[in-house]
Amino acid sequence: MKAQIVVNPAYAIGPIDPRIYSGFIEHLGRAVYEGIYEPGHPTADADGFRTDVLELVRELDMPLTRYPGGNFVSGYNWEDGVGPREQRPTRMDLAWSSLEPNLFGTDEFIRWCRKANTEPMMAVNLGTRGPAEAQALVEYCNHPSGTALSELRRRNGSDAPHNVKVWCLGNEMDGNWQTGAKTATEYARAAAEAAKMMRWTDPGIELVVCGSSFPAMPTYGEWDMTVLEHTYDLVDYLSLHLYFANRKGNLPGYLGQSHYMDQHIENTIAFCDSIRAKKHSRKRMMLSFDEWNVWYHSNEKDMQAPKWAVANNLLEDVYDMADLLVNGAALISLLNHADRVKIACLAQTVNVIAPIMTEPGGRAWRQTIFYPQYYTSQFARGTVLRQAVDCPTYEADVSNRPERTVLTEGIPYLASSVIHNSERGELVVLAVNRNLEEPMDLTVSMEGFDPLCLIEAVEVANPDLQAVNTADFEAVKPSQHDRAQLDRSTLRVELAAASWNLIRVKISS
Ligand code: AHR
Repeated sequence: MKAQIVVNPAYAIGPIDPRIYSGFIEHLGRAVYEGIYEPGHPTADADGFRTDVLELVRELDMPLTRYPGGNFVSGYNWEDGVGPREQRPTRMDLAWSSLEPNLFGTDEFIRWCRKANTEPMMAVNLGTRGPAEAQALVEYCNHPSGTALSELRRRNGSDAPHNVKVWCLGNEMDGNWQTGAKTATEYARAAAEAAKMMRWTDPGIELVVCGSSFPAMPTYGEWDMTVLEHTYDLVDYLSLHLYFANRKGNLPGYLGQSHYMDQHIENTIAFCDSIRAKKHSRKRMMLSFDEWNVWYHSNEKDMQAPKWAVANNLLEDVYDMADLLVNGAALISLLNHADRVKIACLAQTVNVIAPIMTEPGGRAWRQTIFYPQYYTSQFARGTVLRQAVDCPTYEADVSNRPERTVLTEGIPYLASSVIHNSERGELVVLAVNRNLEEPMDLTVSMEGFDPLCLIEAVEVANPDLQAVNTADFEAVKPSQHDRAQLDRSTLRVELAAASWNLIRVKISS
């Protein structure tokens, strides 16, 4: 199979906001307890943080980490998680039928972020609580001193403000699974008042309002537009979430699900821009894709999980080679919308649908999906170029739900993004070959660039698409190859069947 890409420095989609490589830690399963926080672990530091996990998180280089949920946040009293540990209550977490001992809370999370080289992205509870408690948390975190809540933070050991810049106004408030779910108007009014009060407390913050939880929601679109009617001038981003799943054993359709992600992003841009037009606003709403990943492997097991336990084994998907291809293509989809998607969070970071897994008291390792996240975050920095792509396409059902069919034609066998990193003097090609049977001869014409040499061609290609990584053996990992050549301004590379690829070319600046 053959494919061709033409790029030119004059045609750009937009600059990449590095925050599209962010992560997410929720109080759920073993994400916090036995994930990032395990005081008895041999690698634990004085704060009880696992340093083996910290190293892996730092390797992923995630600019933001969303916290504390997710569904968890909609029943959370942030006050339970601050102050002397022995006085903190154990509560029922209704979202995940678990117990929350509150041994880790806001101040611990901020300390962990500093060590993990990531910035906090905090969510407030607009489920069981409202604007007043949201304002109070901003005051606790960001106000320097001299008020009851800022002095409480100082007494709790943080003299300097936490300076949390990005805040989510609740989580998935359109879903009946959410504690304190709301109608669009109920939510929009609460979010608008919370936004005002939070900004009055700290004018430097940025706010994310909840869009639809996923495209198959019956209120899709209507919800987003109602919420924006009330909040357009008060917030900076509308949120999107999407989880990929191969529930029908349909690999071509599964690999095409990033095409569905493209549609979801483009629909959401249309919802935003229709409100912009209606309001005659000059402001363009940006998007925060603050939950995305593959999530389905653990679904059945989770239905049997015992209730009301601490750090229950929940949502522990073990990822395979096919999942790596889907996530690699999803990152490409986010990049190709760099003009509007400014934040994206891989959901989640440790143990719970995560690139990093841990054993209690034992080892930590990289799941298959670690690799596209790592390489994309490392090398896809700069400006995303527009591509003219010539590539055969196929038709498949790209639905992630068993009860729905989303028959889609025109899915290209090649998912690709080309990035111009002028700081490093590099052109970076990211590519997924969705063809399960055949390799692909890809030609990239770099018009208007002066390529000097090939830096490296990296691939992940295990013909066994069900291969997984464990603590003992890494079956799916990157390797360099020599099937790429540079001929003046043309790059030729052979992409293995069902492979993820990164090619870096040095260019003169
Ligand atoms: O990431 C797991 C869950 O998925 C989150 O708690 C929720 O927001 C979404 O439904």
